[in-house]
Amino acid sequence: MPSTSTAPAPAGSTSAVSRPADAPCAVEFASVGRSFPSERGASRTVLRDVSISVKPGEVVAILGTSGCGKSTLLRIAGGLDAASAGRVLIDGSPVTDFDSRTAVGFQEPRLLPWRSVTENVALGLPRGTSKADGAARVARLIDLVGLGDFAGHRPREISGGMAQRASLARALARNPGVLLLDEPFGALDALTRLKMQDLLLDVHAAAPTTVLLVTHDVDEALQLADRIILLGRQDGVDGSTIAQEIVVPGTRPRDRGSAELAELRARLLDGLGIDRHGQARGIESTTAIPHFPY
Ligand SMILES: Nc1ncnc2c1ncn2[C@@H]1O[C@H](COP(=O)(O)OP(=O)(O)OP(=O)(O)O)[C@@H](O)[C@H]1O
Ligand SMILES: [Mg+2]
Repeated sequence: MPSTSTAPAPAGSTSAVSRPADAPCAVEFASVGRSFPSERGASRTVLRDVSISVKPGEVVAILGTSGCGKSTLLRIAGGLDAASAGRVLIDGSPVTDFDSRTAVGFQEPRLLPWRSVTENVALGLPRGTSKADGAARVARLIDLVGLGDFAGHRPREISGGMAQRASLARALARNPGVLLLDEPFGALDALTRLKMQDLLLDVHAAAPTTVLLVTHDVDEALQLADRIILLGRQDGVDGSTIAQEIVVPGTRPRDRGSAELAELRARLLDGLGIDRHGQARGIESTTAIPHFPY
């Protein structure tokens, strides 16, 4: 993935944060389904028959309306939830429990307020990392996300975007084969969000890993992903499944204004049930749609 100009350049050698060339993992969702118990012993199907093959190092964005099961799918991939049907394989071996080959980044940074940025990032290091290796790795990651001058600060002393960068560094500290990101920039203002997108491209270039990115933001998906999976429900059938799969053309960083992307944007918005003016179809025009930030 090419680097971009607006994010901090990867600092010096990235040897301490790089994985071996073959280290990003393949992820296979094989007919994954998930149902949850509902009232009176019945069950409600949230996901149905989701099959996706993710190549090592690929960035796949998962889009879909609120409640369609995006986070559930991500949690299943990380072993934080279990599929009711089908399974997820990472590099051919099934995910059965919390999987140390994965790391998760959430919408909110979830930093420990009483610990410094350095200490928070170090929490992501795999067990058994030596003190010296850990310290070098944490320092390089903090540089990579542009927080070198804030390493000793507590979370309350840094901005929301900085906290989110620290959280990304903590996830990368594990050296994950698969990075699972659940709306990682969803709580940030529009400008910071764009900068974070560029940063993610730089981080991916410096420490290549497979990325599954859940987002509500069509433009973010078009900018960052190799491939976009749109989850949706078919009429009369319970549970979301793959409604559209789009291979995003061109290399990153992509021209946000290109006609090709505009066409894909329109297709995805249509698939999400949003008309060209940003209104959800079938919902009165006065209804706020906070989940669609475009
Ligand atoms: N542990 C659980 N028990 C019962 N229902 C659950 C559980 N986890 C998720 N659900 C239900 O599954 C559905 C999908 O939830 P999920 O969080 O995956 O949606 P989402 O697509 O990530 O939504 P959003 O875009 O709002 O984050 C929701 O209706 C939710 O209530
Ligand atoms: Mg979610």
